[in-house]
Amino acid sequence: MKILVTGASGMLGQDMVSALPDDEVVGVDITGDSIPLDITDLGAVRTFIARSKPDVVLHLAAFTNVDACQTEPETAWRVNAGGTWNIAAACQETDAAMLYISTDFVFDGRAAQPYDEFERANPLSVYGRTKYAGEELVRQMVRKHYIARTAWLYGPLGKSFPATILRVAREGKPLRVIGDQEGSPTYTVDLAEAVARIIRQPLYGVYHVTNSGSCSWHEFARAILLDSGLNDANLSRINSEEWPSPTKRPAYSVLEHRALRLANLPPMRPWRDALQDFLVRYAEIQK
Ligand SMILES: NC(=O)c1ccc[n+]([C@@H]2O[C@H](COP(=O)([O-])OP(=O)(O)OC[C@H]3O[C@@H](n4cnc5c(N)ncnc54)[C@H](OP(=O)(O)O)[C@@H]3O)[C@@H](O)[C@H]2O)c1
Repeated sequence: MKILVTGASGMLGQDMVSALPDDEVVGVDITGDSIPLDITDLGAVRTFIARSKPDVVLHLAAFTNVDACQTEPETAWRVNAGGTWNIAAACQETDAAMLYISTDFVFDGRAAQPYDEFERANPLSVYGRTKYAGEELVRQMVRKHYIARTAWLYGPLGKSFPATILRVAREGKPLRVIGDQEGSPTYTVDLAEAVARIIRQPLYGVYHVTNSGSCSWHEFARAILLDSGLNDANLSRINSEEWPSPTKRPAYSVLEHRALRLANLPPMRPWRDALQDFLVRYAEIQK
């Protein structure tokens, strides 16, 4: 298949391109080594997609700094909603399928059990609202669309939570980490493989794609330290109110994987197993 990946220089984008070794892949981004394409430029997006004629567009590019979205809402709307609108229009015009990466931040976090794909969204933040607007535009405009919601992403090739925890721990500094938010840490390499499987079937719709199981940020940090052979003596648990942030985050955003099961696709492995693979890979990169 010919596959166009937006956000190809990002944390997920680099692993996404690597997960498609047998396809003809074109990676675009506003930054990095990818072919330059600004998704907010409708003319450029239409021309590029009309010329490259992909079978599928994997739309990963976004304004992903959640706190910056809160303080720069116009940029968040322009990139996350407007940019997605442009990609959707070009996909519909060329009859390309489109997969849009969305987020657990579309939910308000008030549930007591994992959110399935058919649950009502109620985003709390600008980031969540703009990503959800992107979902709605994709749903309305692109006949052959997939929406893949993921959460708590970390990967070897980006600024990630585990990388920060390891750096601060090695500097011997105190680590204060939130213990009252629960979610599913998700390894970009696993997510990229899941996406590569989803697009082989014409089962269009919404998928939740996270590693299995859940934990708090504090439990995630503890696992990172222990699985790296580091001491957790400097790690302490705090509540969300103790961490200064302009963004209201869902307290509970565990996602149920109903669509993967219905589509007979394999479940993603437990987050702790994925973390161990990450730590090996990350250590190799750091050498
Ligand atoms: N990280 C998470 O925990 C998480 C959780 C759920 C869902 N997601 C979603 O997963 C996707 C990938 O996330 P990620 O963490 O890999 O993000 P990332 O590393 O920030 O990658 C996003 C890429 O999009 C690029 N971009 C920004 N504005 C653009 C524009 N106008 N035109 C073209 N490219 C543009 C970014 O460039 P710059 O770096 O120059 O801005 C960056 O290279 C996003 O759609 C995100 O919303 C992420």
